[in-house]
Amino acid sequence: MEYKNISVEKLVKPFNIVIDNIASDKSISHRCAMFSLLSNRSSTIKNYLRGEDTMDSLKIAQMLGAKVEDDGDIITITPPKKLSEPSDILDCGNAGTGMRLYAGLLAGIEGSFVLTGDKYLRSRPMKRVADPLRDIGAKIDGREDGNKAPLHIRGGKLKSFKYHSPIDSAQVKSALILAGIQSDEVSYYKENLLSRDHTERMLNGMGANIKNIEDGWIEINPITEPLKPLNITVPTDPSSAFFFAVAAAIVPKAKVTLKNLTLNPTRIEAYKILEKMGAKVTYIKTDDLYEPMGDIIVEHNELNGVEVSTNIAWLIDELPALSIAMSIASSSSIVKNAEELRVKESDRISAVLNSLDLCGVKFTEYKDGYKIDGNSTLRKATIDSHGDHRIAMSFAIAGLLCDMDIVDTQCIETSFPNFEELLESLKN
Ligand code: S3P
Repeated sequence: MEYKNISVEKLVKPFNIVIDNIASDKSISHRCAMFSLLSNRSSTIKNYLRGEDTMDSLKIAQMLGAKVEDDGDIITITPPKKLSEPSDILDCGNAGTGMRLYAGLLAGIEGSFVLTGDKYLRSRPMKRVADPLRDIGAKIDGREDGNKAPLHIRGGKLKSFKYHSPIDSAQVKSALILAGIQSDEVSYYKENLLSRDHTERMLNGMGANIKNIEDGWIEINPITEPLKPLNITVPTDPSSAFFFAVAAAIVPKAKVTLKNLTLNPTRIEAYKILEKMGAKVTYIKTDDLYEPMGDIIVEHNELNGVEVSTNIAWLIDELPALSIAMSIASSSSIVKNAEELRVKESDRISAVLNSLDLCGVKFTEYKDGYKIDGNSTLRKATIDSHGDHRIAMSFAIAGLLCDMDIVDTQCIETSFPNFEELLESLKN
């Protein structure tokens, strides 16, 4: 893998900018690649995220027999008549979503499949999907008794299930939904807080029948015939856009208009927190296709501290960027119930706090979160990304206040290839 660094200079004047070319949604793009395999006709996808993670998912779709055509604008995915056993291992790169969702999909397909990934993904927990999938008959093995990739999956007939997940995870839910729709009988899944629901929305849009019933349970009905193809324009990723939301919130007199985001409530909670901290945030709904979509405008204001301890799954990816806003807020902030941060692309509690320490920010670490004292004047530091795109981008944004060197930034390519270019454009 290439090794890159970024040096960010302090902004000398505020910006007021409209950004309409932030990276497309990663979660939705992964699902486009995978779900198109469940149809018998070609799916057409506009604005597919051309980041490393999602290109890996597309390549896997191809290795399973799909024909992928890319005219530079629209990607057309034509599924094979029957998904075939690939002749090589399937490399998910850095993508937990890729590995966990493909595990659920492939568990129900006849054949032998090996899912692997980069050194970071190979150290992340897979038991959360392997265990419930094994319980319904999937044959999955891997290092540490199937907890660590490479995972070997021998797919085949799956039983239906009733599963109450101990974690609120869209990856686990999606893996189980993909398994459930391939079984012969109705399955049920429950999570304590609704995690991002792109899988349910998109599969239902394709003709599946996945519905919320009483008491937080989701009913997953088997699919008896191929689904309709997807015809979708992938919206902008609100998690990627959030770096620029934080930029506008922390730079005095700044304003940003972020165009064409998914406004799915399970994805924009971090913007609500920024609003609660004092930033001016405006939501403009413009469309509704599978998901509500529109623009978000964020304007600078004095920021206060905040407590973040509920709806954690709705802002888990944005917590590193929020930690920058929390550092300069006028009072302390607390993040609790966020232990999941420890098993993301890096241990994000350690990575955020180690990096804040280098920037002169005071904090207290908890097992499931942290307290950030606030009122800090950030100082220039050399930040190691820990191979984690969201750490790299969060501290690049902090650099707008004080100069910053970020090392090992190749990981940004996984989700937001034009991040640096957009960061530069704030200077104009
Ligand atoms: C994702 C779900 C979340 C999120 C990840 C993408 C998805 O992970 O952190 O970046 O696309 O389903 P978990 O479901 O493991 O919480």
